[in-house]
Amino acid sequence: MALILALVASLAVLAAPSAAITDVNILNFALNLECLEAEFYSYAAFGKGLNATLLGGGPGATGGEKAQLSYSVQQYATEIAQDEINHVAFLRSALGAAAIPCPQIDIGAAFSAVINAALGTKATSYKFSPYDNDLDFLLGAFLFEDVGVTAYSGAAPFISDKTTVLAAAAGILSVEAYHAGIIRTLLFQDGAYPVKPYKIQTVDFVQALSNLRAAVGGGKDKGITDPPANGSLYIPYLTSKYSSNLVPTNDDSLAFARTIPEVLAIVYGGSASTPGAFFPQGINPGA
Ligand SMILES: *[C@@H]1O[C@H](CO)[C@@H](O)[C@H](O)[C@H]1NC(C)=O
Ligand SMILES: *[C@@H]1O[C@H](CO)[C@@H](O)[C@H](O)[C@H]1NC(C)=O
Repeated sequence: MALILALVASLAVLAAPSAAITDVNILNFALNLECLEAEFYSYAAFGKGLNATLLGGGPGATGGEKAQLSYSVQQYATEIAQDEINHVAFLRSALGAAAIPCPQIDIGAAFSAVINAALGTKATSYKFSPYDNDLDFLLGAFLFEDVGVTAYSGAAPFISDKTTVLAAAAGILSVEAYHAGIIRTLLFQDGAYPVKPYKIQTVDFVQALSNLRAAVGGGKDKGITDPPANGSLYIPYLTSKYSSNLVPTNDDSLAFARTIPEVLAIVYGGSASTPGAFFPQGINPGA
């Protein structure tokens, strides 16, 4: 850790005033996303957000609540929350004085806004909350997890230091991929159930979220069924037309890689140049 600290500090000093993206830029971009994930899972699992140290002096997220979860889903939420909290702590330690404070984060109304955008004509006045029950929690988690994987994959070629920074990014990417796999598998198991009160089958609901991410985030997305669910309304049981697609990949079975603007367009709820949704005032890019 001390090595990474020294390394990143020197990178900050050496960073030339050019448009080239530095390792510090990349790690701070990652820290913004980890602040979002850690706040969401921390509220869902424990009913409280990051403490002042982990926020780095930034404001706490708004709209978070303890999620109403069954015993087993509470276990998954607790484990993932601990990982995301540890990622925030790790990135702060790696970045040292160059670490950004967490920006303003909305983990309340942003969910219903993004989900209504995804549902299009099937949107309702119902205020979707990821804290209401197991299924809604998993759907909320689905919105982020694949985005984290594609963000780290997309950043990898731009990382200069291979031994510490790229190695750390690979370690975080792997954990995000485990998380994404857990969430996708659990959603597929619930695939036939309608999401209340929408009367939309879970596989179709997930497909709508994936379609939105693809539309604004450069394609690079897949729902949990293959071939994709087609937006048909409530069907009581999964039929043979659904096979699982738990691992979203390109044709070479490599994880998708997104650019920073593609990631921002998703977490801003539509456009990389217009802050909104989960980051109402935008991310904190750092110095
Ligand atoms: C903040 O949370 C982290 C992670 O749970 C913990 O290690 C640290 O001691 C906490 N800091 C304070 C000041 O409570
Ligand atoms: C969509 O699903 C419905 C219900 O299973 C089916 O009848 C229809 O043929 C499907 N359409 C396409 C284009 O796959």
